[in-house]
Amino acid sequence: MIDDLPPLSLYVHLPYCIRKCPYCDFNSHKAGDAPPLDRYIKALLTDLRGEADRATGRTISTVFIGGGTPSLFSGAAIDAIISGIDSCMALAADAEITMEANPGTVERGDAAVYRRAGVNRLSLGAQSFDAGTLSRLGRIHGPQEILSAYRDARDAGFDNINVDIMFALPGQDLRASLRDVERAIALEPQHISYYQLTLEPNTVFHSAPPGDLPDEELCWSIQQAGHDRLRQAGYEQYEISAFSRPENRCAHNLNYWQFGDYLAAGAGAHGKITDSAGRVRRYQKPAHPLTYMEQSETGGFEIPQKGLADEDIAFEYMLNILRLPGGFSEKAFSQRTGLPPSAIGAELQRAQSDGLMQSGNGGRWWPTGLGLRFLNDLQARFLPEKCPAKAEIDQELSKSGALPD
Ligand SMILES: C[S@@+](CC[C@H](N)C(=O)[O-])C[C@H]1O[C@@H](n2cnc3c(N)ncnc32)[C@H](O)[C@@H]1O
Ligand code: SF4
Repeated sequence: MIDDLPPLSLYVHLPYCIRKCPYCDFNSHKAGDAPPLDRYIKALLTDLRGEADRATGRTISTVFIGGGTPSLFSGAAIDAIISGIDSCMALAADAEITMEANPGTVERGDAAVYRRAGVNRLSLGAQSFDAGTLSRLGRIHGPQEILSAYRDARDAGFDNINVDIMFALPGQDLRASLRDVERAIALEPQHISYYQLTLEPNTVFHSAPPGDLPDEELCWSIQQAGHDRLRQAGYEQYEISAFSRPENRCAHNLNYWQFGDYLAAGAGAHGKITDSAGRVRRYQKPAHPLTYMEQSETGGFEIPQKGLADEDIAFEYMLNILRLPGGFSEKAFSQRTGLPPSAIGAELQRAQSDGLMQSGNGGRWWPTGLGLRFLNDLQARFLPEKCPAKAEIDQELSKSGALPD
């Protein structure tokens, strides 16, 4: 039984891009010459009305319009989405409303239209400020477009802007990666997301990796140096890849990591809802935009739903919360999962004696520097007992000597 329902967020997915970046495994599709943007918005508005039923009696505290490339859509389309949400759900007056934008699709004046539509947080996908690197990443913009998109957003009154940059990029050395960090800091955004490039299955980079990717040791040095520089510039690391001014943490993403609830609208969007009896359910919308639109137009979606068993809930909680250097309290664990702290007590103790977790007053637990470095291994310790991978992982860890005895 859950005492209080967690905060409720809403994720809206807009799945089109000018072209597919070779490293990207998001549910994004090449827009082509005549993308069905109006048809998609219509389907989405129907979808949102359906989602409203799941939100009865609850307030939406954050909205995230992600993609794909939401900035491919006009201000009028974004306005229709936000008005659509407002007309069928209780949207908090101070709701954080984020929209992702690709600098290559933002024309002068667009930011002002998005701002007027109600977007109050803009997330710019810069990736790098080096022209050669951007071209190797298949980006549709150069450094200049990043600067002008950022300036336009500021001029339009955006006072909460995130800049995404990636590191461990093809051909990148420590100095080049730090130049990117420096250029991002120089813009003075409220938030910087600093992601290590990962080679995701089903991407061009996975099947044909660039030959000059930095090796593991260099990646580690780049990451450490980037983190140090961001902290020195006054950005607080509140998640493994997220840095912000103290008052500008992303409330939407924090709600995911703190195991809050979220509604899902748009192709392939994932949702998670806790009911008053404490049962947690996950669901997903059809992933392909065409299937999504067809099902929306013909009377509803076939939505696979999955109830979570207790041991899965504990694991999913830990999978998310361990990304936060600030950790969690035992009370918060019980509030969000409906389980007693003893459900994870033995694993927490073991992780502590291995130097991966620390504990403090008030039943607080947080990952150590070592725990964050070996985050995947730490998370895997909380896999449900029945999962054979756990024993294998433990064996690997002790064999490799990667962790202290
Ligand atoms: C949906 S995209 C952002 C908006 C827009 N589509 C764009 O690319 O400008 C979210 C962010 O995830 C990061 N990202 C995407 N693929 C990644 C990968 N393979 N490894 C690390 N970060 C990745 C990028 O920094 C990207 O800006
Ligand atoms: S623009 Fe963004 S979502 Fe689209 S393919 Fe590139 S990284 Fe992926």
